[in-house]
Amino acid sequence: MSLTSVFPHPIVQGPTAGGFNTPAQIAAVSNAGGLGSLACSLLSPDAIRDQTAQIRALTDRPFCLNFFVQETPNPSADEVERAKEWLKPAWSSLGWTGLPTPAKWCEDFAPQFETLIALRPAVASFTFGILTVEQIQRLHEAGIFVIGTVTHVDEALAWESRGADAVIASGVESGGHRGTFIGAQENATLGTFELLPAVVAAVNIPVIAAGGIMDGADIRRALAAGAQAVQMGTAFLVCDESSIGAAYKQRLLTAGDHPTKLTRTFSGRYARGLENRFIQQMAANERLLPLYPVQNALTSPIRAEAAKRGETELMSLWCGTGVSRARALPAAKLVETLLAEISAQ
Ligand SMILES: Cc1cc2nc3c(=O)[nH]c(=O)nc-3n(C[C@H](O)[C@H](O)[C@H](O)COP(=O)(O)O)c2cc1C
Repeated sequence: MSLTSVFPHPIVQGPTAGGFNTPAQIAAVSNAGGLGSLACSLLSPDAIRDQTAQIRALTDRPFCLNFFVQETPNPSADEVERAKEWLKPAWSSLGWTGLPTPAKWCEDFAPQFETLIALRPAVASFTFGILTVEQIQRLHEAGIFVIGTVTHVDEALAWESRGADAVIASGVESGGHRGTFIGAQENATLGTFELLPAVVAAVNIPVIAAGGIMDGADIRRALAAGAQAVQMGTAFLVCDESSIGAAYKQRLLTAGDHPTKLTRTFSGRYARGLENRFIQQMAANERLLPLYPVQNALTSPIRAEAAKRGETELMSLWCGTGVSRARALPAAKLVETLLAEISAQ
């Protein structure tokens, strides 16, 4: 099936977990003929149902619900205490005498998956892992188009062989977390325009290009290299309807040539964002830190407090390498601008 039979224009608003996707943003992109996406990974089933209802009140066009495929971890008390100690420079700089242990490490995937099946969005996308053949069959029986995120060719072949309808080829330029689920995350180093043709040559299902795609010329280049669409995260993160906080947005819009970095210091999984003091302070122990989602849950109160205080040196400023080209526009205007740029020669 080609992607244009699912949504008309080759533009996917990338899901951006952290509460940044709003129903207004998603509906604006879908109403403009792209595909809006809601990052559901950090949401409870009730919150997913509630936000999906809000999207449906604003659009009858297809949209995407996005999830992390993950197991709920059970770290030892020792591991947690050690990780808290490593984080001391960050939490003590906020004036805290200790770091709380989170009530839970992540949302359980199984109830999220059942909620997804019941909600029957037109499209669902996944990252961090791969579904079973049976899970993909259940999504298909519910009429849901299934997309897997990949960072190298073996992962694309795995999703295709299990029955996925499309893959997102996510180059190393991408903002946010690497989706790698086969092999080491630090070995998935191909850039978007190296990964894309390799994945297009390897699979027979549609490929969506992601990573550093910021304008119509980038989209044209991706389509010429065999992509059927692009997924843009950073570009939509700064749009008017995104609920990104003012300090974070300001850092992105003034990023200039400030370096982005792949780091596992915030979450235990490699993710790209603007380099800051937190990343530098934690770099020495980076490889020893707990895996996602344990480190993510431990740093969450630090990042939330920093966001409240506008203290961007302690926040995860996720964005891709193309951040300096991000434009603060209403989401529908961004889609319209991109479409005009695609057709301009
Ligand atoms: C703040 C942020 C959060 C993200 N959260 C998710 C997510 O929850 N699920 C997902 O599949 N991708 C997530 N991504 C990846 C984007 O959907 C998209 O693939 C990526 O941003 C593309 O690269 P770009 O930022 O260079 O456009 C996130 C990216 C950012 C910047």
